[in-house]
Order: sequence, then structure tokens, then C-alpha cells
Amino acid sequence: MHRFSLVATALLGLTKGVLGDTETCGQVPYDPSKYVCWDNEFLCPITAGEPLSYCAGACYSKFMYTCTNNVLTLLPPVETPFTLTADNPNLPIHGKPVTAANQHWVVNGETASYCPDQVGDACPPGNETVIVSGGGTVSMSVMVPGGQQAYLDPYWNMGYTQAHSAYIPPGSITTGFGAYQGGGFVNLNGNGWGWAACPPRASGGGGPAWNLVARNDTNAERYKDCSPINLKIHSLPSGTVGAWQYT
Ligand SMILES: *[C@@H]1O[C@H](CO)[C@@H](O)[C@H](O)[C@H]1NC(C)=O
Ligand SMILES: *[C@@H]1O[C@H](CO)[C@@H](O)[C@H](O)[C@H]1NC(C)=O
Repeated sequence: MHRFSLVATALLGLTKGVLGDTETCGQVPYDPSKYVCWDNEFLCPITAGEPLSYCAGACYSKFMYTCTNNVLTLLPPVETPFTLTADNPNLPIHGKPVTAANQHWVVNGETASYCPDQVGDACPPGNETVIVSGGGTVSMSVMVPGGQQAYLDPYWNMGYTQAHSAYIPPGSITTGFGAYQGGGFVNLNGNGWGWAACPPRASGGGGPAWNLVARNDTNAERYKDCSPINLKIHSLPSGTVGAWQYT
């Protein structure tokens, strides 16, 4: 979900001349790089590269909602483990996986995991980042006793607990996540700002991974060089475990 996902079209306040007018929707000029026109009548914004869909007066994201008989409804919660990919067709990381390493989720990194010698062949491959979510919380899909809970850390990066530890940094947020079947993994804490991916710093090395951040009213300016993305859910069979533990 993004900032504009439920804005009624009438409120968009489009004014001729303000936008780079190149097309018209009914009588209204609009910039097709920023809006999509439905039925030659209704304008919806494009957010995170997704032209929002239209349902009886509201624009909505297919990562969270569906429109059935002109009624907007939430997608059902996903009930099995899943992996995530970044979604924004305008970015080079479109379709790249969310990966866990160093107690931190990034986009397009390498999943880092560990398998104790005594467990050996009984460990899952550990090369994919598998996640489970329910009741607003989220955790890593692992075998290690105690599991590994995931959370928004105080910088609004996604972190997860170390194996055998329940420690979560003070100021972290452990609830308010939505995971929708056939849709996306949504942070409901940010007042609709949604996820963003920050390109690797040119000088800092760090490989091809982009940092994943959750934006909100207060950090949006600081993260202005980051690009909005949706996180697309890919459901896996019930019981899929990704690793003994992620490191
Ligand atoms: C992970 O490892 C399994 C088994 O070795 C392999 O089939 C799969 O393609 C690998 N996945 C990735 C993303 O590398
Ligand atoms: C927004 O995120 C920042 C971290 O980037 C955090 O310090 C701040 O408290 C958050 N703001 C709100 C309103 O939750």
C-alpha cells in the first residue's frame, strides 16, 4: 500500500498546466507517467511503478485489495510460508528477491544461513529467504528452536533476531504487518508510505544489494533517494522451512 492507494479520484486536484499534460482523461489533462486513466473517466496514480486499479470511487493496490462486484475487499491473509521479491518495473531490482543476512533484510543480496554439523543433511538448503507471517507479526521460516522473529528496527529497516536469542532492539516494532495471498507483504505502520529500496552507495562497495527501508512521515525526506517498491508474495507449500537458521 502506498500513500495514495485509497485516494478518491475526485480529490486528486488535477490542474491544467501543473502536470506535463500529454493526454486527457475525459476532459482532464494528465501525465501518463504519473497517472493511469480508467474508462476515460477516472484517474488513479501510479505508485511504486504500479498503476493503481479503480473500484467504485477508490484507487487501490492489487498488492492488498481486490474489487469484487464493485466492492473493495482486502485480499485474504497468506497462510503458508513465502518468499518476497521487489516489485517496481522502473527499477533494475524488479523481481529480485528479498534476502536475509546479518540480521537484516535487503533486496538482491545473498541469503546467509547456518547449519550445525550435527544436524547436517537434515538442514534445509538455506539459500532462499523464507518468511512466515500471521496475526500482524512476521518471522523467518527456520528450524532452530525458538525461531527467529522479524521486526522493524529503530531505523525502520527489517531486522530479525539472532538464533537462540529473543533480543530485539528497543524502539523496534513487531506488529502491524499484512501478508496477502496473491498480493504483497505490507507494512501497515507507516501511514501508507510503504517500502522503499535504496541503491548501493557508489563508493561504499557492498555489492549489488539494495537496502530495504520502510518509510513514514518523518523519515521520508531522509530516504528521498530511495525508490518506492512493493514486496510481492510468492507462496510456498505449507510447512516449507528455508534454513536451520539465518545469520
Ligand atoms: C537452492 O538450493 C537448491 C538445492 O541445492 C536448488 O535446487 C535451488 O535452485 C537453490 N536456489 C537458489 C535461489 O539458489
Ligand atoms: C519513522 O522512522 C524513523 C526511522 O527511520 C523513526 O525514527 C521514526 O520514529 C518513525 N516515525 C514514526 C512516526 O513512526
